[in-house]
Amino acid sequence: MNDLSGQPVVAPTVIHRADYRPPQWLVPEIALDFALSLNATKVQATLKVAKNPAGTDTSLLRLNGDAIEPKSVTVDGQAHNDWHMDGADLVIELPGDTHDIGIETLIDPSANTQLSGLYASNGLLCTQCEAEGFRRITFFPDRPDVLSVYSVRMSGDKALFPVLLSNGNPTAAGDNGDGTHWAEWHDPWPKPSYLFALVAGELVANRDNFTTKSGRKVNLAIYVRPGDEERTTHAMRSLIASMKWDEDVYGREYDLDDFNIVAVSDFNAGAMENKGLNVFNTRYILADPETATDGDYDAIEGVVAHEYFHNWSGNRVTCRDWFQLSLKEGFTVLRDQQFSADRGSAPVKRIEDVRILRAVQFPEDSGPLAHPIRPDSYQEISNFYTATVYNKGAEVIRMMTVLAGLERFLKGTTLYFDRHDGEAATCEDFVKAIEDGAGLDLKQFRNWYEQAGTPRVSVVMTLDAANPTLEGEAATLGGRGVTLTLKQTTAPTPGQPDKKPFVIPLRIALFDRETGKHHGEELIVLTEPEQSFTFGGFTSLPVLSINRGFSAPVEIVAPVTTEDLVFLARHDDDPFARYEAMQQLIVRHLVGAVAGTLEKREESQAAIGAAMGAILDDTALDDLMRGELLILPGEAYLAEQLTRADPTRIFAEREGLKRWLGETLKDKWLALHDRVSAVPYSLAAEARGARKCKTQALVYLGAADPAEAARRAKAQYDAATNMTDRQGALMVLCSLECPEREAALADFHSRFAGNMLVIDKWFSLQAGSLNPKATEHVKALAEHPDFTMTNPNRVRALWMAFAANAQAFHREGGEGYRLIADLILKLDPINGNVAARFVPYLGRWKKVEEGRAALMRAELERIAAEPTLSRDVREQVSKSLE
Ligand code: PHE
Ligand code: ZN
Repeated sequence: MNDLSGQPVVAPTVIHRADYRPPQWLVPEIALDFALSLNATKVQATLKVAKNPAGTDTSLLRLNGDAIEPKSVTVDGQAHNDWHMDGADLVIELPGDTHDIGIETLIDPSANTQLSGLYASNGLLCTQCEAEGFRRITFFPDRPDVLSVYSVRMSGDKALFPVLLSNGNPTAAGDNGDGTHWAEWHDPWPKPSYLFALVAGELVANRDNFTTKSGRKVNLAIYVRPGDEERTTHAMRSLIASMKWDEDVYGREYDLDDFNIVAVSDFNAGAMENKGLNVFNTRYILADPETATDGDYDAIEGVVAHEYFHNWSGNRVTCRDWFQLSLKEGFTVLRDQQFSADRGSAPVKRIEDVRILRAVQFPEDSGPLAHPIRPDSYQEISNFYTATVYNKGAEVIRMMTVLAGLERFLKGTTLYFDRHDGEAATCEDFVKAIEDGAGLDLKQFRNWYEQAGTPRVSVVMTLDAANPTLEGEAATLGGRGVTLTLKQTTAPTPGQPDKKPFVIPLRIALFDRETGKHHGEELIVLTEPEQSFTFGGFTSLPVLSINRGFSAPVEIVAPVTTEDLVFLARHDDDPFARYEAMQQLIVRHLVGAVAGTLEKREESQAAIGAAMGAILDDTALDDLMRGELLILPGEAYLAEQLTRADPTRIFAEREGLKRWLGETLKDKWLALHDRVSAVPYSLAAEARGARKCKTQALVYLGAADPAEAARRAKAQYDAATNMTDRQGALMVLCSLECPEREAALADFHSRFAGNMLVIDKWFSLQAGSLNPKATEHVKALAEHPDFTMTNPNRVRALWMAFAANAQAFHREGGEGYRLIADLILKLDPINGNVAARFVPYLGRWKKVEEGRAALMRAELERIAAEPTLSRDVREQVSKSLE
């Protein structure tokens, strides 16, 4: 194939789930010897290889490589020449069934801007091997179903690398007497190459310990750069709580004598579960009240738990191939969600998780990159670390807990761990173990693994004629029957035009209008395209509360009037349902306003005002929950409800409503701000709730009375003893055009100069701001001396905040699209993985009105025309253009 420019057009390699074959060769043991240096690290690898009886018999051993070359190859200790390169892979011809292979490679970690493989960060050496980074260190069958026992030796300059860490247990260490020293580590647990890790550098540890339920004393250490150790207390507390929780709830115990965490500032993702040596992005470790918000504290607790929980769901039982990614990620996200729910407010945690799902996963599921939680094919696996695999994956497993109840579900997970310990398993193995252990039939339920797309369930509710012939339980209650008729449909997604029906468990309650009480919560399980359920004992049509607790990840179209929603927002005893009623009330209003179908704007607005007023007045409500109920539905979720929209109109309507609520309820906002401002700082739920409401009150006041808001925000900023208050105040100031804005931004920058994580906030606040000049500010910030393209946190702080800022990104004329396309092109050669994360913002063009859609497409085409794109960006861009 050739294109017009005469360049050969290479069709991308697509990897299919159906093509899985067991590995030809296994590697039961590997020894790695690193001679460490920041720009020339020598790696000597020794692999014990053995033909896999389950593979097809071949004398060719294929070892994956990426951007490395073999300096020497030996077989059974002898120099060996019978090898060749096939693309990036090393292929060795072998005479027998078992051999020792020796390979030497040379790496320049300081030139590794992709942050995959062995790289230098801030003078540290560290590795990131998931998914396919190990092949950038040495040649290896770099696939998760090849499990090996690792022995690691490393030596290096004592001053540069005083701390030398790897997986498992430290076994020996010594001084070479020439300014260098060495250490050896051994990990007794066989693991895939993606779980290998090594870290070397100047680090200090916060140490503690944990005794497991069977009496093993585990040494815990969190390693950070000198000066940061004070900010690791919360992470350590979270780690210890996670270890205890996994024993108590899932019966999982830690299995090594040491557990180490290292925090690094250059990291593509959040954190990594390497066996016994988790590597973290600093933002998920470092916290103190002055520099971290309440949200940061929660995120740290969640991510520390997540990585720790991977020790069982991911490491002890790993994935057979990358199509099974949700096996470890969906399950582990569910586990960390359950943990956080148990640690704090369960309803608030549920609301936050659903908000993320709707803001990120729902749009993914309705866009060009939609895929099932277990994808069928990929070009670049890094593109599949998605909200679908992670968050929808968690929702799918959560539905199993709804169907079975937690206790039975846990019998299923125990069986899963027992059956597959030490193995590389599949999603099917997991489902089967839950079926057997929990006693569920999940035959049709498996459609959730096969099909992409968010199901839409529409409901019709009727009151049966008087004295109907009711059957079963409904008859014993007497009165009249209420029938719910539910229909499920799922829109086509790429490659899946027709969908089979899903199993959809819905928790419902029917509220009696007279008594304001419901008849007990019921679980209905929808399995057909259309299905009816009847409930007895009613005298009039009840108010329907459905998908309580968000029992299924679906969109509901229910016959609930505005009045009903106001009622539920006030009285529903399920806090999630209460939140949901509030959201739906506002969603209907805003979607109607944008689509031009809103009939009684004044009345609808007044209903929202009354409901919100009631929330502000409700003294029985805790402030943490109140804070949630006050948050308006996000723009991305609103856009989901419209076939095609002008995002700036969504923005304008949403801001308009905010302003109106700010004005109408002004006295209540002022009173709220006064009340919660008097609550002293602590990490207790009451105090955190107070801070959440404090910022919410300022936000509404900011929309309604900028002068009053600026005055209050400045006072809040000046008096702040903690980052939550300071950031909240600065956010509001940032959105306003007032003299206090510049002063506060300058103060914030100088106050926290040198603290990378806080300076990230400084970039983010400005880029994500409602301020009409946000685009101008972003362009200037891209030239700021503190901005750099090589630190992913900094890139995300500026540019993701901008891409998610609808009024700036979608501003008339398409400049926002051009800026993001420019960024992708500039970032791609530096870090393709992070660059590809920006493509979905442009990829949503089909949901945007035609004029802008054309501009978005044009930018995607401009990117696609670049001949040397990374595989990451190439895949996302070409799929987004289809
Ligand atoms: N496996 C990591 C987690 O979810 C995420 C990750 C993926 C980190 C790839 C780095 C690279 O916990
Ligand atoms: Zn994970």
